[in-house]
Amino acid sequence: MSKETSDFLMAERPPSTETAVTVDSTSSASSGLTLSWKDLGYTIKDKTLLSGLNGCVEPGQVLAVMGPSGAGKSTFLDVVAGRKGKVGSLYGQVLLNGTQRAMKKYSSYVTQDDSLIGCFTVRETIRYAVELGQPISNKKVREDKVQELLAQFGLVKCADSPVGDAIIRGISGGEKRRLSIAVQLVKEPKIIFLDEPTSGLDSAASFKVMEAIRDMARRRKCTIVCSIHQPSPSTYALFDKVLFLARGNTVYYGPTNGIEAEYFKSVGHEIPVHSNVPDAVLDHINVDFLGDEELANTRIDHFVKSWTQSAGRVESISSVDAELKKAHTSNEDAGIIVGGGDYTHGFLKQVEILTRRNFQNALKNILLFWVRLAMYLAMAILMGTTWLRMSDNQNTVQDRFSAIFFTIAFLAFMSVAGIPAVLEERAVFYRERMNRTYSVGAYVIANTLVSMPFVLIIAVGFSIPAYWLMGMNSGASNFFVFIAYLWLALYVAESMVILLAAIFPIFVAALTLASFFNGLEMVTQGYFVRRQNIPAFWKYVFHYWNYQKWSWEALIANEFVGLTFQCNPNPVGGGCFCSIPSSLGPDACKFTGEDVIAEYGYGDYSYWKSAVCLIALIVFFRLAFYVTLRVKKPKV
Ligand SMILES: Nc1ncnc2c1ncn2[C@@H]1O[C@H](COP(=O)(O)OP(=O)(O)O)[C@@H](O)[C@H]1O
Ligand SMILES: [Mg+2]
Repeated sequence: MSKETSDFLMAERPPSTETAVTVDSTSSASSGLTLSWKDLGYTIKDKTLLSGLNGCVEPGQVLAVMGPSGAGKSTFLDVVAGRKGKVGSLYGQVLLNGTQRAMKKYSSYVTQDDSLIGCFTVRETIRYAVELGQPISNKKVREDKVQELLAQFGLVKCADSPVGDAIIRGISGGEKRRLSIAVQLVKEPKIIFLDEPTSGLDSAASFKVMEAIRDMARRRKCTIVCSIHQPSPSTYALFDKVLFLARGNTVYYGPTNGIEAEYFKSVGHEIPVHSNVPDAVLDHINVDFLGDEELANTRIDHFVKSWTQSAGRVESISSVDAELKKAHTSNEDAGIIVGGGDYTHGFLKQVEILTRRNFQNALKNILLFWVRLAMYLAMAILMGTTWLRMSDNQNTVQDRFSAIFFTIAFLAFMSVAGIPAVLEERAVFYRERMNRTYSVGAYVIANTLVSMPFVLIIAVGFSIPAYWLMGMNSGASNFFVFIAYLWLALYVAESMVILLAAIFPIFVAALTLASFFNGLEMVTQGYFVRRQNIPAFWKYVFHYWNYQKWSWEALIANEFVGLTFQCNPNPVGGGCFCSIPSSLGPDACKFTGEDVIAEYGYGDYSYWKSAVCLIALIVFFRLAFYVTLRVKKPKV
C-alpha cells in the first residue's frame, strides 16, 4: 500500500487527538468545511474506476457530478464519502479544511432508494426524523422545524397522507423521493453527498428538490456533492461547480458560469448556443452507443488529454494545494467545527424515541402483528371446534399431546408472516445507521421491548378461545401458565425470524430459512420421536437447544398434572383396560396425568428450567441480532 493510500485510509478513522468536537448542530450559521480531494484514484481488481481527480468544494457550494452511466459518479461519491469498503485500492487524499478527518462524522450520504416506513404519514416520518436528529427539547420548536422541512421540500400538501406500502396506497414517487431526502438531511450535516437525488422525478420536481438542497447549502453553509443525470437548464444553473466524468477520468471540472462552454469550444467541441450545456456535453462524452470501440477510445482519450493539459486542471490542483497550505498555517482546531460529532441523543433517549416509533409502527402496520392475530384467532376457533371440549376419557391423552404440539408448532411457524415488515424496518435502520442517527444497541433494545407486548397480545388472543373450547386443564392457574410458555415460545420464534431476516435480507431467502429452522425444531423437539430415541447428534445439537422442546415440556406438564383419566371397560372378561400403567392400583380403573408424563418419558420436566432456557434463547437470538447488525454492512 502506498503512503498516500494509507494516509487516505486514516482519514476514515477518527484521529485520536480529535476530542474537542462539540455537538451543536443547531448553530447552523457557523463555519463550514471545505472538502477537497487530491490525485484521487480508485482501482478494483486491476480495473481503474477513477483516476487523477482534483477539486474542492467550499461551504455553501454545490458540486454536480455528471457523466454517462458507468462513468464512475457513484464510485466517486462513495470514495470521497469514505464509504468504499476494503474491496478496492484507494489513492490520493480526501481532505476537510485541508486535513484528514473522519468524514463519516461530518457527512450524510443520501441514498438513491427510498427506505421509509410505509404506514407513517409524511408528517410523522419527518417528526421522528427531527426527534432523532435534532437536539430540540421544546415540542413547539420541534413542530416548527417539522413544518419548515415540509415547506422546504414541498410536502405540505401531502403532509398527512401515508407514505404507502404494499397494502396502503401512498404518496407519489416524487413526493417519496423528496421525503427521503428531507429526512436524511434533518441532522444538518456539514457535508452532504447525494447520489442522483432526482432520478425518477420530472424536471419541475427535480428543480424543486435541487433548489431546496441549494438553499440549504447557502443558509447553513454546508458543502454539497451531488451526482445528477441530465438536469434541465434551470436545475443546472443551481450548481456552482460541475465535474464531468468519462470512464473515471475528468473531462471538465470547474464553475458552471459559462466557462465550461468556452472550454469545450477550445478543445474542439462547441456547445450550440441555445442548447442545454449538460445535454450537449453528455452527447459528446457518451460513447456507449457509437458502436465503434476505437472511435470511442480516441474520443475519450482526446477529452482526457485535453483536460490534463488545460489551465483549468492547473487551477484545480493549485486550489487544493492552497487548502493544504491553509491547514498547515492556521491553528484551526477540530473544536471549531460544529455540526459534526456523535449521536444527537444519549443512549436512553435514543431507546425511548425508537421504542415509541417501533411501537407506533407495530400498531399501525397491519402486516407486522395484526394479520397474524387474525390468523391465530381463526386457528383458535378451528382448533377449538375440532378438539371440542375434550373429556377425561383416556382416549383424549393423544389428542391433548397433539393439540399442544400443533399450537406451539403452528403459531411459532407463522412468525414468518412478520418478515416483510421486518425487512422494511431493516432498510430504514441501515439508512439511519449509515448517517449515525442512533446506535445499534438502542435499536435492538427498542425492537426487543416493542415485540414483547405484541407477541403477548397474539398469545392471549389465541389462548382465550382455544383453551376453553378445547377443554384443557381447568385448574386455577393453568390457563395463565399456558399463556406464559406460549408467549415465551413465540417470542423466541420471533427473535429467530428477525435474526434470519437480518442475515438474509431477501424475502424468499429469509422465509425459506425460517421455515426450515422451524421444521427442524418441530422434528427434533421430542414429540414425534421421544427423547431417548433421538440419535445422539440430533439430541445434543438440536434437541436441547430447541425452544419448542422447552415450551412443550412445560405445557404438557401444565396440561396433564392434576388430571385423572378414565380407562375403558375391558370388552371381554370384565374389569378395565388402561392404556397407561396406573399408579392408583390395578383396580382403580383410572390413571393420573403424572402417569402419562412418566410413561412418555417427560418425568424430568421443570418449569423453571424451561423458563430459563427459553429466556436464554431469546437473549441469544437478540445478541446475535445485535452482532449481525453491527457486522453486516449493506452493500455500497
Ligand atoms: N465492485 C466493482 N467491481 C468492478 N467494477 C465495478 C464495481 N463497482 C463499479 N464498477 C464499475 O465501475 C464503473 C462505474 O460505476 P458507477 O460509479 O456505479 O457508475 P455511475 O454511477 O456513473 O453510473 C462501471 O463501469 C461499473 O461497472
Ligand atoms: Mg450511479
